[in-house]
Amino acid sequence: MAVKNIGVVIGSLRKGSYSKAIGQYLKDHAPEGISMETVEIGNLSLYNQDYDESGEPAEYAPFRQKIKSFDGIIFITPEYNRSVPGVLKNAIDVGSRPYGSSVWDGKPALVISSSISNQSGFGANHHLRQSLAYLNMPTLAQPEVYIANVQECFNEEGSLLKEDSGQFLQKVLAAYLDFANKII
Ligand SMILES: Cc1cc2nc3c(=O)[nH]c(=O)nc-3n(C[C@H](O)[C@H](O)[C@H](O)COP(=O)(O)O)c2cc1C
Repeated sequence: MAVKNIGVVIGSLRKGSYSKAIGQYLKDHAPEGISMETVEIGNLSLYNQDYDESGEPAEYAPFRQKIKSFDGIIFITPEYNRSVPGVLKNAIDVGSRPYGSSVWDGKPALVISSSISNQSGFGANHHLRQSLAYLNMPTLAQPEVYIANVQECFNEEGSLLKEDSGQFLQKVLAAYLDFANKII
């Protein structure tokens, strides 16, 4: 089986988000036959374990169904206070429950982090990898993707500013698809 449908989960809700710009660039450069879809996570109510027994918010089921439908997941995240933004962690938690029914299970993943400083989202990248290891999501090890000073690579309208960064992202995408094809 070959990978066809990739979900893109973005850890920023911001209108002019650089993470969204990276996602759009990858979509625009996806090879023929690969469809990439950004998943809405900003509408997910904060997860509460009581929901597993007493009924859950209406938006949870379609979100889980959507994640289930993908062959793999690309996470693109900024760093908030040296970790992943709460909105992304919430989406991960919602998809992971009820216990034993995680929709993330076994899906090959790619982690891309960025920041507007030299830090490049290293903390967020590795906190995210910790959750993905627990969720049994095989995650591309190399190349690692830390994009420092992302505002020099993309503008807030989503246009690429630095050709090198675009070429690097295309290489990463090819490596990820190759990796994912070996797994599914
Ligand atoms: C609440 C908050 C916390 C942040 N913490 C960090 C941080 O720990 N490290 C860092 O490099 N940038 C940090 N930033 C700056 C982000 O890198 C910057 O806002 C970036 O543009 C967010 O990504 P986006 O463009 O995809 O929304 C923080 C921003 C916010 C709003």
